[in-house]
Amino acid sequence: MKKSVLNYILGFHTEYKEKALLMIDFEKVFSNTGIISKLQDIIRFFHEHIPVHFKYEEIAMDVFRQGSVLAANEEQLITRILNEHQLIRKQFTLLNDLSENIKNGRQEMKGQLAELIKDTFKMLFDHAELEEVSLFPLLDAKLTEEQLRIIQKEMSQIAV
Ligand SMILES: [Fe+2]
Ligand SMILES: [Fe+2]
Repeated sequence: MKKSVLNYILGFHTEYKEKALLMIDFEKVFSNTGIISKLQDIIRFFHEHIPVHFKYEEIAMDVFRQGSVLAANEEQLITRILNEHQLIRKQFTLLNDLSENIKNGRQEMKGQLAELIKDTFKMLFDHAELEEVSLFPLLDAKLTEEQLRIIQKEMSQIAV
């Protein structure tokens, strides 16, 4: 990929996917004591970091949409990715709340947490893979230098 701003956004995927794979299989990986606090650390990490990454991608998609004529399949792809962002954000808020409840003594919620972890991280992993094979190659091929400059400028205005 030749465009550095896209590379920068995409660069987050490596760590997200590694952590997501651990979480999909968390019962094998975290089989000993301290499991809940390790899970909570990872959930908190995503709850904090995912909104910024999603926002970067949404800026890139917005600039692309505004400055280009999109084919129907390109429009569909972007709509799908935006819908997945909404869903994944909601899932992480739920996960964060649930793990807080467990920390505060609601042990009976552990089963629910396990299910939600698997669903959410599988969704996140598949989402990242979809973007890598479809969205980023599309943006890389179609965005102009001027659009990339706008994206970079809008990204720099987000408080991280
Ligand atoms: Fe995304
Ligand atoms: Fe992404």
